Amino acid sequence: MENLFDLPAEYKELRTSVRALAEKEIAPFAQAVDEEHRFPLEAKNALVKNGLYAAHVPTEFGGDGADALAAVLIIEEVARVCGSSSLLPAVNKLGSMPLILGGNDEQKKRWLPRLVKGEGFSYCLSESEAGSDASALRTKVERSGDGWVLNGSKKWITNAGESEFYSVIAQGDPKLRSKGITAFIVEKSDPGVSFGAPEKKMGMRGSPTREVYFDNVELSDDRRISEVGEGFALAMNTLDHTRITIAAQAIGLAQGAFDVATKYAHERHQFGKPIFDFQAIQFILADMAMNIEAARLLTYSAAIKSENNEKDLTFFSAASKCFASDMAMKVTQDAIQVLGGYGYVSDYPVERMMRDTKLTQIYEGTNQIQRIVMARNLPNA
Ligand code: CAA
Repeated sequence: MENLFDLPAEYKELRTSVRALAEKEIAPFAQAVDEEHRFPLEAKNALVKNGLYAAHVPTEFGGDGADALAAVLIIEEVARVCGSSSLLPAVNKLGSMPLILGGNDEQKKRWLPRLVKGEGFSYCLSESEAGSDASALRTKVERSGDGWVLNGSKKWITNAGESEFYSVIAQGDPKLRSKGITAFIVEKSDPGVSFGAPEKKMGMRGSPTREVYFDNVELSDDRRISEVGEGFALAMNTLDHTRITIAAQAIGLAQGAFDVATKYAHERHQFGKPIFDFQAIQFILADMAMNIEAARLLTYSAAIKSENNEKDLTFFSAASKCFASDMAMKVTQDAIQVLGGYGYVSDYPVERMMRDTKLTQIYEGTNQIQRIVMARNLPNA
């Protein structure tokens, strides 16, 4: 029988080449990006130059046409060295998926080629009073002649201010709850768009998180990318495809921490031998490796389901995000334990990886929300 659970050669090659690029052009800046809370410009330039900034964009719109599994591998390998930088391809996919899933060809031609060239795409769903309860959002969109006018604000928007384009999910009639919601594309340069101060975060410090404000932003109808009242379903369907990328990010962070911990365990001598020779350390590393591999298999299988738009995608996407991020939280903490005092200070990257990982349990829906989604979509045996 063919090896069903081994990656085909082209994906292995992709992994090898992205790993080499990440080691050479992204890893050297990861610590500074974190310490200085600065945007990872070197990573952005390297990703754009190598067609990895928004590789998921179909070839007819200027992208690489990377399938969902290839997108996962890219994000995983970037996250292995720098969590903040991995948010570039991940959020570009999140921001542009509503357009890819809901927009017409003209709209795709208008924004996707510019995304690939480095203009960035963010996703605006959450609000201060509508986080987990996404359909309670209050950003208001009203008819105005042939077009629309947008008022309100979005919170915790990844790469806000850096991205040129924003998928904005807005409410037309609060009485209708999710059925009153419609999706639009807003540009950073649209009059009436502005941004809050960058949030001060525990991790992912190289990726700006800001509020986005809309003050009488006028939009022509060709900015609308869902049918009127179908924006919430589009936003949820987007997350079905992109929660997998957060799983990928978590796996990359866990792998990065595992690699550092394993190398350290071989090099660090105590009681006259490498600490790797102690079973207490071996068991920690064995559990780390086992759990990373389990999360990886689940995530790759969810990616295939995303690519094929399979009907159990909703369950698998939520499951991969939840499992991988919980796994990565434990693995990154255990990596710190292996390094002891060295793990707790910033001489080694594992404490940064742990801080970055924490967010993977929270964004694109908390892991409590993922369990709600899974319970509502349990697979049939
Ligand atoms: N695909 C398509 N349609 C869907 C869907 C899906 N996966 N999930 C729900 N819908 C549709 C439903 O079918 C329903 O329509 P009908 O009434 O016609 O059946 C409608 O949407 C409303 O669905 P629910 O009744 O299930 O909605 P709810 O209010 O109970 O909420 C929820 C469901 C799962 C809790 C949802 O609110 C949710 O996912 N919350 C978390 C939000 C989230 O993940 N935010 C992340 C923000 S992005 C982010 O973090 C970005 C970043 O910076 C990286």
